[in-house]
Amino acid sequence: MTPLLLPPLPYATEALEPHISRRTLVTHHGRHHQAYVDKVNATVRDTSQSGWSLERLVKEASGALFNNAAQAWNHEFYWHSLRPAGGPQPPADLSAAIQRSFGSLGGLQHAFRDAALDHFGSGWAWLVAAPGDRLEVLTTHDADTPLRDGPLPLLTCDLWEHAWYLDRLQDKAAYLKAFWELANWSFAAENLARASAPRRAR
Ligand SMILES: [Fe+2]
Repeated sequence: MTPLLLPPLPYATEALEPHISRRTLVTHHGRHHQAYVDKVNATVRDTSQSGWSLERLVKEASGALFNNAAQAWNHEFYWHSLRPAGGPQPPADLSAAIQRSFGSLGGLQHAFRDAALDHFGSGWAWLVAAPGDRLEVLTTHDADTPLRDGPLPLLTCDLWEHAWYLDRLQDKAAYLKAFWELANWSFAAENLARASAPRRAR
């Protein structure tokens, strides 16, 4: 079985500056994300799980293997949740869903910021598509991820200190503010379309 590979960043390491530095991206992707991938490979080598996809490991593994697989999956999802500043704003379907659920884009950003700031310790903040055509904000601790058994994720923000400490020291609020300059609305809209597709097909 071919080992898992570290997926490349979908942009250059300096592409998110000045909001997230090249130094942070090089370390975060090249060291932290790489370490999770390496630990998954080391754990499954020569076991019955060596042929499993990363998604299957996240959904079915336990203990340290789950933690490392989920961190690998969450980080890939996080890289795609970002794009260089100045990119497209939410397209029509996503914008309508945001307005239905939060009243406005500002309402979403406020709810997301509050949830992320209130989250104690390491984890992730998520925009998810909940049942009933509603969008919701939630946070998960450590490696936990909605991919396991939760609602379908649209966008995530890494709340581990390694995501901002090199750039912001203890100023988590500044990192969260910068997140909205970088939010990849096209990616969120593609995920929302996937969430809606089965319902439309029925
Ligand atoms: Fe991270």
